[in-house]
Amino acid sequence: MTDPLFDYLAPENHVEKRAGISATLKAQLHEPLDANTQYHGEAAFWLQIHQGLLRTSATLPNWCEQFLAEKTTDRLYLMAPRICNLATQLVQHAHGHHHIEDDHFFPVFLRAFPQLANPIDLLEKDHEILSVVLDDIENATKELSHVSQNATSQITTAEKSDLFTKTEQLQKAASSLDRLFIRHIGDEEEICLPTLMRM
Ligand SMILES: [Fe+2]
Ligand SMILES: [Fe+2]
Repeated sequence: MTDPLFDYLAPENHVEKRAGISATLKAQLHEPLDANTQYHGEAAFWLQIHQGLLRTSATLPNWCEQFLAEKTTDRLYLMAPRICNLATQLVQHAHGHHHIEDDHFFPVFLRAFPQLANPIDLLEKDHEILSVVLDDIENATKELSHVSQNATSQITTAEKSDLFTKTEQLQKAASSLDRLFIRHIGDEEEICLPTLMRM
């Protein structure tokens, strides 16, 4: 059961503010794994998923930046759908992964190790924050896709400005997600990998 004193909104816990797992929560975790640990099975698969998510979340803001720096207007036509596809893929992949963790992994971990209630609560609350940022990405992507599909073949100055505004919105949300993912996924691995390797 979660400690009633556990306060996710405190700066040492909130994903937007914390610099790592607090000492209080660390004391509730399993012993960290040796740096040379060889991961296998479910743990190796899980790490692969995280690497894929981190790779895509780092790529998306870069692609938006390239779009915003593009001087050849014709190329914007080619770039916008690629950006939208990548963003859609990232949102779906992240939501799917978070559902599997919330509905499958975390309940299993908690049944086996009830002392992990607070660290798992932290990760679940991270997912709620991430979900809002994923919604921002989804909305910005829809708007960018709409503008790019409706642009005339000779992109006008007004259309170009609209495309750039939507891409700036997407880049902002994508950069936030990347920053939060680095924090969340790093801490999640510290909390869950030693647990997963014991299951
Ligand atoms: Fe997660
Ligand atoms: Fe994860």
